[in-house]
Amino acid sequence: MSITLPSYREQAPEVKERFDRLKQRPVKMEVRGLNKVFGSTDGPVTALQGINFTLHRREFLSVIGPSGCGKSTLIRILAGLEIPTSGQVSVDGQVVRGPGADRGMVFQSYTLFPWLTVKQNVMFGLKIGGNSANKAEAEAREWINLVGLDRFENSYPNQLSGGMKQRVAIARALANRPKVLLMDEPFGALDAQTRATMQSYLLEIWRNVDVSIVFITHDLDEAIYLADRILVLKANPGEVEELIEVPVRRPRTTGQFLEPPFLATRKRLEELIHPPEKVLKQRLKIARMTEVGDDVE
Ligand SMILES: Nc1ncnc2c1ncn2[C@@H]1O[C@H](COP(=O)(O)OP(=O)(O)OP(=O)(O)O)[C@@H](O)[C@H]1O
Ligand SMILES: [Mg+2]
Repeated sequence: MSITLPSYREQAPEVKERFDRLKQRPVKMEVRGLNKVFGSTDGPVTALQGINFTLHRREFLSVIGPSGCGKSTLIRILAGLEIPTSGQVSVDGQVVRGPGADRGMVFQSYTLFPWLTVKQNVMFGLKIGGNSANKAEAEAREWINLVGLDRFENSYPNQLSGGMKQRVAIARALANRPKVLLMDEPFGALDAQTRATMQSYLLEIWRNVDVSIVFITHDLDEAIYLADRILVLKANPGEVEELIEVPVRRPRTTGQFLEPPFLATRKRLEELIHPPEKVLKQRLKIARMTEVGDDVE
């Protein structure tokens, strides 16, 4: 028998109140009827179909789904790096027609300029945005402090660990004061321990900055630990399967990982992400390479 999320909402009225309050906040980003079809040598591939959702002010939205379901395509469209086949994205009511300072992006791969110091990397967008060198430097210092790297402002990226590089990437993205921060598996290349530290850092940063976040991950615990809501996508074509309101209280702590609301959410995600075993058995034709009677359990 599955534990259903609504029962948690009924048990905890403060959870329902929290989401009612969230939905009353202004809409920062609106996605309407988004479709994306790619041409390929094997014919057209529908990467995304009929995607609709809204992101409210200071909301943290995680996006999960199986590999190839269109997560990166979606976030690239939100960033304005990819054009949808139909449908539209708007930020504060303005239709997105390309990249813009109202959206910041952090990728999985390290994208800092290796020939620039930490401070110069963070100053880069600020200078392009028309700030004087002095103003850009002062602003960059503030953001570097916020991500806890003040002792490293004159270091080069190759002198930093992976986690530190991603903290600089976050500072660089936030320095332009975007309304929405878009993150595509930003901690995917980090070891488990650094990743856990970075998740807590990100929550702390988010608490101190007026920004809404769209965060792609394939790690279910990470999705729950960080998010207010989780957009679950399914593949072929990439469609919204469910939008889950995470019933776990804030501020989040790692102790909550074993508490019933967290476990119920995880179970629901597992059900959505992993196909039932019988479906898998039907799909996979596995050749037998062992002797009869030499079975494992
Ligand atoms: N530039 C492109 N040209 C053609 N097809 C593409 C292109 N980019 C993505 N696709 C296809 O669109 C689908 C979605 O790809 P996408 O990279 O968005 O998936 P994803 O959910 O991010 O996967 P992963 O979890 O592995 O990162 C895939 O079938 C992919 O092959
Ligand atoms: Mg991807």
